[in-house]
Amino acid sequence: MSEKEKVYIFDTTMRDGEQSPGASMSVEEKIQISRVFDEMGIDIIEAGFPISSPGDFEAVSAISKSIKNSIPCGLARATKKDIDACHESLKFAKRFRIHTFISTSPVHMKHKLNMTDEQVLGAIKESVTYAKKFTDDVEWSCEDGTRTNLDFMYKTIELAIKCGATTINIPDTVGYSIPEEFAKTINLIKNNVPNIDKAIISAHCHNDLGLAVANALSGLSAGVRQIECTINGIGERAGNAALEEIVMAIKTRDDLLPYQTGIKTELISKASKIVSNATGFPVQFNKAIVGKNAFAHESGIHQDGMLKNRETYEIMTPESVGVKKTSLVMGKHSGRHAFKDKLSDLGYADVTDDVVQAAFGKFKILADKKKHIYDEDIVALVDDSLIIDNKINAINLKSLKVFAGTGEPQRAAVTEGTDAQATVSVKIEENDRTTVGQSADTDTLVASANAYLNALNKMLIKREKKSLYKNIEHQKIKGGV
Ligand code: KIV
Ligand code: ZN
Repeated sequence: MSEKEKVYIFDTTMRDGEQSPGASMSVEEKIQISRVFDEMGIDIIEAGFPISSPGDFEAVSAISKSIKNSIPCGLARATKKDIDACHESLKFAKRFRIHTFISTSPVHMKHKLNMTDEQVLGAIKESVTYAKKFTDDVEWSCEDGTRTNLDFMYKTIELAIKCGATTINIPDTVGYSIPEEFAKTINLIKNNVPNIDKAIISAHCHNDLGLAVANALSGLSAGVRQIECTINGIGERAGNAALEEIVMAIKTRDDLLPYQTGIKTELISKASKIVSNATGFPVQFNKAIVGKNAFAHESGIHQDGMLKNRETYEIMTPESVGVKKTSLVMGKHSGRHAFKDKLSDLGYADVTDDVVQAAFGKFKILADKKKHIYDEDIVALVDDSLIIDNKINAINLKSLKVFAGTGEPQRAAVTEGTDAQATVSVKIEENDRTTVGQSADTDTLVASANAYLNALNKMLIKREKKSLYKNIEHQKIKGGV
């Protein structure tokens, strides 16, 4: 089989990602993130926009000193002072990239820059030539590229390459493009820019219409060989193309996307967590690849299929992105098969079918009432069923009298005729293992005492679980059950 073509992964989590309102990261956090990125094989790390703040400058400098494999990069507008700041902060690395940009769309040129075509062309010539003095590795971007007049775009790209740009980035700055159109634009650039073979074409797609990843992947088939992206898809407004989605799409669908990235995908989950912690941006539960539910199955049919063969509902393994194990989430859709499997995970592999059946019945009732069923809930249910199944109530309440308070002695009884029930839960702890007991009674204090005894009985079961199971089996065989 022939070598697959390389696609460079350019991460802009710490530049475009940090531009998301509220996502700022400290210098220390950026250094930590860059270590993970470096280890995971990201080709280019855009570490910041050095002119924009002393913190950005410091972060880019620190990263350019510490990373070993990735190429550090800084962003610069088309001005000498921006490019100087990039050079000053990146110069510690043995190789670095300067990424300079200017808007080329009519709306940006008129309202944002107040510049003519000629002035923009002049700024491109000056900025790219100046950046090239500091490094061979210069990237140039036509901001708002997908809303740029194509003939003008060809001219700007040709000029940037002539002045030394080795990567030409086509940003869909406002997330306006759709996949076929984006691929068409790349094809047109390839056919109309005479010196395009001297540069790598890059895609930088925003997600305003939810099409960032689709656009970037569509660009690949047309000739894009660098994709700019961010961990968890963070970025301006609706975000940027998510690195984990791009990389895993290429890996999983290599039949249709015959390319390779150098990413160690097993570090994806770690990168996602560290970015989420640093920015304070939680990852949505159903986020592709890195969401809490991305490898979780709740429906009974799906769980049953998964237990028979993972490929029934899994197109990639959780381990391939650094997630330990597929989780079968217990909820109202879970079936008996998955429930039994869960019991075995929780250490109840040997319980009898009667106990499983009783616990499963209670679990279904609980699942209807409660959104999240935790392992602790399941343990409580099965312990209860064990107590009932074996009529084990080592500690019983014989009688209870309570007198409390000042003045007249209080009695532990509710007014006659009242049928309200108090439900009491008691949590006890032994050797870091918590046990919850519950009881209901019309008398709160009786309910409390019974809940406490219920917890104690369950704890006794936990203590002697192994020998208990053996005894149960023994008694049943003796009793001829
Ligand atoms: O979205 C955009 O256009 C950018 C450029 C600076 C590349 O982030
Ligand atoms: Zn952007």
